[in-house]
Amino acid sequence: MKKLVLLCCGCLILFFIAVPLSMGDKIKKILTVGDPLTDNYIQACGECHMAYPPQLLGIQEWRQIMGQMEQHYGDNAELDPETRQQIMAYLTQYNADNSSSYLAKKFRKGRVVQQGLPRISQTAYFLHEHDEISPHMLENNPGLSSMSQCQQCHVKAEQGDFDEDNVLIPGYGRWDD
Ligand code: HEC
Ligand code: HEC
Repeated sequence: MKKLVLLCCGCLILFFIAVPLSMGDKIKKILTVGDPLTDNYIQACGECHMAYPPQLLGIQEWRQIMGQMEQHYGDNAELDPETRQQIMAYLTQYNADNSSSYLAKKFRKGRVVQQGLPRISQTAYFLHEHDEISPHMLENNPGLSSMSQCQQCHVKAEQGDFDEDNVLIPGYGRWDD
């Protein structure tokens, strides 16, 4: 009996270590610099904001965004046809509909239907997770330009880490929930 209890405890501990590790790993792997596909994506899409992890939107949303890069949220971010094709292939492979990662599942659920181009920052899950952030925090804050600039608060976002323990809001400090 004692052995069985020990075995169960061991399994539980392993579970709590392994599950979060594999969760982080999935997003991280896809953002790994050094893989030519990812490097391409970061170069083309990481200039004006962080290169968003492709798993945070579904294929339909990415198609819509990539279909009008010359009118991109008020900017012209037009790409040459070859780059556009490479980026589209990348997004087709790694989008939320195609990913088993924990975050992809969360972001896929309950998309908010809205006018204009789709936004990660307008998905139901995003709005729910950020409902404690007051618009005042963005006013006259030189370190924080918009909710689309994930990496300004999520200091490890560019490594695919959006954990709430790694949030530091410019001008306000570490997030402590
Ligand atoms: C020339 C600058 C520029 C480039 C290059 C660019 N973007 Fe953007 N992008 C913007 C701006 C500006 C916004 C709006 C940000 C805001 O509202 O603060 C935006 C917003 C977005 C959003 C919505 C963010 C949110 O709020 O959820 C997505 C998704 C996005 N871009 C994807 C891409 C992809 C994919 C590429 C590469 C193919 C790309 N962007 C390249 C300027 C750019
Ligand atoms: C103004 C700062 C700020 C910006 C900008 C921001 N976030 Fe967050 N985010 C937070 C805070 C604070 C939390 C924790 C909220 C809580 O504890 O309830 C959070 C939570 C999250 C979570 C849940 C993490 C967890 O551990 O449960 C995800 C995922 C996330 N953010 C993704 C994003 C993405 C993607 C972007 C950019 C499109 C972004 N965030 C932009 C501050 C920010």
